[in-house]
Amino acid sequence: KFMRRCTTQASNSDTVEPSEHEISSNGLNDVPSPGLDLRRFTDLQDQRRQEALRSVLVRHVGKATEEELTKFCSHFGEVQNSFTYGDKEQYTLLEYTSKGSVHSLLNTAHFRSVLEVVPYRSRLLSFRTSNWMNSSSKKHSVGEMTAEQRFSILATKLCAAQSMEEQMRVLVRETELSEGETRLRFLVCSLVEDAITGHFPGCIVHPFGSSVNGFGNKGCDLDMYLNLNVEEHKPKKKKSFPRMEYEVKTVPTERAATQNLLSTVGQGLAEFVPSCRHVQYILNARCPLVKFMHEATGIQCDLTSNNSIALKSSELLNLYSRIDPRVAPLVYAVRHWARLHHVTSNMPGGWITNFSLTALVIFFLQYTDKPVVPRIDALKELADKTDTCILEGNDCTLVSDLTKVPLSENTDSIDDLLLEFFEFYSNFNFRNCGLNLRTGEIQEKQNFDALYIQNPFEQQLNLSKNVSMHQLEKFVQLAREAAWMAEQPDFLQPEVGPKGGVTPWGLVSILSGYNKRKRRLMDQKEFTPILDSIKSGNSTRNSSHGNV
Ligand code: CTP
Ligand code: MG
Repeated sequence: KFMRRCTTQASNSDTVEPSEHEISSNGLNDVPSPGLDLRRFTDLQDQRRQEALRSVLVRHVGKATEEELTKFCSHFGEVQNSFTYGDKEQYTLLEYTSKGSVHSLLNTAHFRSVLEVVPYRSRLLSFRTSNWMNSSSKKHSVGEMTAEQRFSILATKLCAAQSMEEQMRVLVRETELSEGETRLRFLVCSLVEDAITGHFPGCIVHPFGSSVNGFGNKGCDLDMYLNLNVEEHKPKKKKSFPRMEYEVKTVPTERAATQNLLSTVGQGLAEFVPSCRHVQYILNARCPLVKFMHEATGIQCDLTSNNSIALKSSELLNLYSRIDPRVAPLVYAVRHWARLHHVTSNMPGGWITNFSLTALVIFFLQYTDKPVVPRIDALKELADKTDTCILEGNDCTLVSDLTKVPLSENTDSIDDLLLEFFEFYSNFNFRNCGLNLRTGEIQEKQNFDALYIQNPFEQQLNLSKNVSMHQLEKFVQLAREAAWMAEQPDFLQPEVGPKGGVTPWGLVSILSGYNKRKRRLMDQKEFTPILDSIKSGNSTRNSSHGNV
């Protein structure tokens, strides 16, 4: 999916003018999210939520143009922003300055036929003009690109950069969620919330995970958390009489309540809510969820409930992404490298998840000689009373005012940090040591899990419990290869290849695993077989801590 901002009528502080680099491969202006923003995470989330509540998503039928649509919609109020996307079918996300305009627009919308449809009033609409009959409603599709084709386009852009540092910044720019894509994600949550509100007034569907943590890639899944918002109705400790109580259904466990809720919500989405398709129920997972595809946006959604700690974890990662401008390029590079080398996967299994990978990067940035980012306990110490947050009995307090976080004294460049990251984990004693992001220290491993990263908020849990020894070994092996490549004298030298193009260098060598000398050295058996140290726990380098 590609997005562009086509109109901005009202003055808006986050307006970003498209620049040359924002022209994406299909020629549309792809506007990136604004840069580092020091506003409170909850304020940012709330602003996005309010924008979504003032927005509708409209499918263009036939030859209906964006201009016609905007003109039509302007009759119901001032249009603040609109974003159009899609090749097979065009859609426009349209934001009004006032929520009342959405209601006025919905009040004039028609149902195609009351006999054949479920008359559900959704903010997903179709716009049809008088000439719709004369046109073919489907445009010719340019076809999906393969992962190789996408990487090849990306690699060309990266190879054209002037330095590895610039390559890392280009990678973020080219792959991060754009402003329009972020808005679409909040709108999908808002549409799902509309569908649930009838049964559970006051409920909120929050996006979490990579859609909001500052490290989202184009096309990443949308993790959603349904909060029924019933905290204020829980009985106070001191019971007072007389009082009124709700009559409710009882279930054996809280988990069963979550499973029933998700199963019913999933059915509602499948039966009544336009564009929600391929609903799958994964209710026996540790964290029960419903998966579905939101077809109009092409976003794969994972809906959970009772998952407030996951939203807090996303806030934590989001804080780190904004504490220091080096964090995001580093995380993007590592996540990209891991995906291209199949260290991560969308399939459930023993792979290192993006969440674990990000934790590995943050820990490295805490543990390095001069820390780039503070430990989590320091973020808690900086918090004030209003930041206090206890979730399911866990203290999840974090500072919300980012201006209180001191700047780092570390001046390393992002490319140096990336190479240090690979070196650090090439030699880490995973066999005996675990990572503690609260203290920023290495800790003795509590169990036999291959990779142990203490969950920051549920401290008795390992957030990497799923990781198999095989996948950890693969990670270490590839980290060693990356560190080795970076030591080669021609690592940063672009060269013209036999077909006239530039051969991979710098970040592209690391992402693609390409190195001109590698094959030769491997043939000569100079390329050291890996992993002996994690298998045996023996050291190849001396360190008083976790590095072996
Ligand atoms: N999460 C968690 N514990 C885990 C795995 C995930 O608390 N063991 C929470 C985290 O808040 C994480 C969120 O669930 O941010 C989403 O997890 P996941 O989808 O795996 O990570 P993303 O950051 O969303 O990455 P991706 O782009 O792969 O979806
Ligand atoms: Mg996710």
